[in-house]
Amino acid sequence: MFTLLGQRQGNLIEQMDAEDADCKHLEQTYADFYALNRLISQWNRVYAKYIRPHAKEIQRQGNIFKVCDIGCGGGDIAFLLFKWLKKDGIKAHIIGIDIDNRAIAWAKANRIVSAETAQVNKKKSVGLFFECISTSELIHRNHKVDLVINNHVLHHIPFEKINPFLTECAALGTRVICNDLERSSLAYSLFSLCFPLRYRSSFIYQDGRISLKKSFRKKELEELSSIGWRVQRLFPFRLLLMYEAKS
Ligand SMILES: C[S@@+](CC[C@H](N)C(=O)[O-])C[C@H]1O[C@@H](n2cnc3c(N)ncnc32)[C@H](O)[C@@H]1O
Repeated sequence: MFTLLGQRQGNLIEQMDAEDADCKHLEQTYADFYALNRLISQWNRVYAKYIRPHAKEIQRQGNIFKVCDIGCGGGDIAFLLFKWLKKDGIKAHIIGIDIDNRAIAWAKANRIVSAETAQVNKKKSVGLFFECISTSELIHRNHKVDLVINNHVLHHIPFEKINPFLTECAALGTRVICNDLERSSLAYSLFSLCFPLRYRSSFIYQDGRISLKKSFRKKELEELSSIGWRVQRLFPFRLLLMYEAKS
């Protein structure tokens, strides 16, 4: 049960990424992300501290708050964010993108908000949308947002592609928040103890353990990211890699 996670094991591959992954397990994985992320990802705190003040400022300037969630998976974070912003009276245009069409198909079928909020106002373009598209294609379309977010995506990306990925995030958004696990032997042991029975019909348990082996330590992310980026710890066992364009 106790495993020392010294070296990062970036070569491991999560089961959910396999092209021939079992459909039922994969769909259950997207569904389970909702509860799992509410439990461990701390977006409520990130929202209160970083996102809401930024969104209110954009709104004060008379603009719609534009967000892109890269690697949105089943769309749960984009969905939650849209609901929180709406509750705070902030109009938002949120697009969740993923390179895996299975994730986008699931998100479109399960994470669309009520008819009233999902309605696209063509002029103002308020709503929650999902699309299977790469960051490069989105940049090619000249898409620009106020905030780029991603959750549990950094460790998914091959090491040599992380820097180009971060450059693209910064090209898309004036601010970027990457929220990911921090590699830790204690987190691995706790996860291994607490979750084996809970997520039996999805890939969450096995992939979660793989993800913890693939995730970064604070110093590793600091070494990897360039000027303009900063790394911050988020209790428990999380790292925020953030960027803010100079105005
Ligand atoms: C562990 S899942 C996280 C899903 C979601 N963000 C969440 O936390 O519930 C990682 C997702 O990132 C997607 N992904 C990986 N690399 C990507 C990239 N370069 N661009 C867009 N999506 C990517 C994968 O297809 C997968 O759906």
